[in-house]
Amino acid sequence: MNIVWDAEKYTKDFAFVHQYGDAVTDLIDCKPGAKVLDVGCGNGALSYKLQEKGFSVTGLDSSEDLLQIVWHNYPEVNFVKADAVSFSLDETFDAVFSNAVFHWIDAKDQDCLLKSIFKVLKPKGQLVFEMGGSGNNALIHRQLANIFTQKGYAYKNPFYFPSIGEYALRLEKCGFKVQFAVLFDRFTELKGKDGLSDWIRMFVKQPFEQISSLVEREEIIRTVLRNLEVKLYVNGKWHADYVRLRMKACKCVD
Ligand code: BEZ
Repeated sequence: MNIVWDAEKYTKDFAFVHQYGDAVTDLIDCKPGAKVLDVGCGNGALSYKLQEKGFSVTGLDSSEDLLQIVWHNYPEVNFVKADAVSFSLDETFDAVFSNAVFHWIDAKDQDCLLKSIFKVLKPKGQLVFEMGGSGNNALIHRQLANIFTQKGYAYKNPFYFPSIGEYALRLEKCGFKVQFAVLFDRFTELKGKDGLSDWIRMFVKQPFEQISSLVEREEIIRTVLRNLEVKLYVNGKWHADYVRLRMKACKCVD
């Protein structure tokens, strides 16, 4: 995973990430009591929601900081520490769920992620997920790339945002059958008067690591904001130009 989480700030200021994930849980078509694995469970809010729906849930995350929070907040849910790309568990699941996680994993590691998931699914088990899709936050990354380049720095988008076609192919190569796929825009309101600068500081850490001066980092963020104000500051609120890829696939055995 391409980030070290500021767990407290993430939970407090970016609650929309799991709030939007509610709708994704509705794609799971299993009876109460079914076993569901939440890959990259983060602050545990969606694991808890799934448990409330009557599923028997295991949340999996690699962040010790986030796990400390979920173990404390949701003692009734089972959480395990493991890396999404290389995990193996002793049990199998009726469904694997994931929200806003897969785009953090490098393209080169995506097949390992899907293989790990395939292995823990029961036959006919479902994989239901949402991630950033092709074009996600394109305005923000394009602006950052422009300003980095002007200042003589390289800018590499730290995320993997695939198209439906690209990801469907990956799933099929791993043995999944794709049952549902949609790519849609979600212009998303950010919290607070510093919504976009906070978002950049929280989520776009890697490209800034090459710049040692904090003053220069902040100057870049200010310039990006100035250039994006026309498009992303709407009705007195900062927004992010999200594009979501939502899919469902099954481990169908003929
Ligand atoms: C997303 O959910 O698409 C996302 C969240 C944070 C940074 C980048 C993408």
